Amino acid sequence: MKTDVIIIGAGAAGLMCAMQAAQRGRAVVLLDHSKKLAEKIRISGGGNCNFTNLDVRPENFISSNPDFCRSALARYKPQDFIALLYKHNIAFHEKDLGQLFCDDGSEAIIAMLRGECDEAGAKRFMNCEIEEITYDAPKEEGAKGKFNVSTSRGEFTAASLVVATGGLSIPKTGATPFGYHVAEQFGIPIAKLRPGLVPLSVAPDDWKPYADLTGVSLDVTVSFGKQSFRENMLVTHRGLSGPAILQISSYWQHGQPLHIDLLPALDMAVQLDEQKGSKKLLSNYLTQWWPKSFAEAWCEQLPGIENLPLNQYNDKQRKLIAASIHDWQVTPSGTLGYTKAEVTCGGVDTRALSSKTMECNEVPGLYFIGEVVDVTGQLGGYNFQWAWASGHAAGQAV
Ligand code: FDA
Repeated sequence: MKTDVIIIGAGAAGLMCAMQAAQRGRAVVLLDHSKKLAEKIRISGGGNCNFTNLDVRPENFISSNPDFCRSALARYKPQDFIALLYKHNIAFHEKDLGQLFCDDGSEAIIAMLRGECDEAGAKRFMNCEIEEITYDAPKEEGAKGKFNVSTSRGEFTAASLVVATGGLSIPKTGATPFGYHVAEQFGIPIAKLRPGLVPLSVAPDDWKPYADLTGVSLDVTVSFGKQSFRENMLVTHRGLSGPAILQISSYWQHGQPLHIDLLPALDMAVQLDEQKGSKKLLSNYLTQWWPKSFAEAWCEQLPGIENLPLNQYNDKQRKLIAASIHDWQVTPSGTLGYTKAEVTCGGVDTRALSSKTMECNEVPGLYFIGEVVDVTGQLGGYNFQWAWASGHAAGQAV
């Protein structure tokens, strides 16, 4: 079949790109090997899809080329996507920190995008295995090349090919390294891949005191380098999770400790000074903020300091306890990997792409959008906003 645009991957970015391009009157074919449409949208945000964030800035994205995302994000804003939800009467609400979720399930977002694509005339082929991509380079300067895509559902040919196959996380949703392989085929570099927004593990021997405290949740500030996040942290059997840890995991580097402020709202040096005469045991005193089990386990681990009544500590010890509360250092042994990660950090090197259109500088007509690109959002709706914005940028250009 001859068409104007072939998009591989009918997830968030692919659907947005298909809709934009088809609305411009382009003949669009959308190919996906999955049986079901947009599985990651379906499972996102606990089933209610955190589809964007009211406060989107370039600083919310991680990339080896941090300015790359600016142009696309500036041209497709959260308000543009929100306008689509109003058009389709989809109810939504703001949770914390500007995060917008559907009221009645993420299926509404899938139905909306599918409806927009269908109405604009984009053709969709699901359950479609991609076998081979070949490229006929243009015969003369200024002419366009041609991409030929062989699939289990036939041959497709177009001057524009958009790769929107996402990252590696949660393989059971249909995630594959396909997009990275296409980049390699065309000589486009890949920024190192690693799981992001992922729980972290700690070596079993180091974690013994906390391994049985699964489910304990604390409001903390966790820092790594210049990044810090104040959110909840969850103790798990294997290490740490919860929003604060997922956020910092995208920045964390192997072998380095995380710095965790366990009581970020307080000045513990002052608090402990006020308790100089108290006969309360340190761990009991801390239970006004922490679950007893965590307070006891944490006090047992204090280096060179026993869990004693507060009036038995000297000034130096009180200072040390306060400093340890505000800077609990945990060195993870690793992450729980792509089966538990929400995203893949790294990806198609943005230096090879136009920030306005997502087209490859050296291969005219070839585009990469969404998570397959080396732009990764923080937790909070940013990854979908990148999928919408990069899909829109390419959809306007193909
Ligand atoms: P996406 O993964 O959506 O789509 C890729 C498509 O390509 C899929 O349909 C797949 O089947 C297809 N494909 C892959 N390989 C192929 C091949 N070889 N041949 C043909 N087709 C192929 N983000 C956010 O902003 N808010 C949230 O609430 C959440 N929640 C969330 C929860 C969970 C559990 C996960 C795993 C992830 C999130 N995310 C999120 C992240 C978000 O889902 C993700 O960043 C976007 O879906 C990326 O959109 P893409 O279109 O790039 O890839």
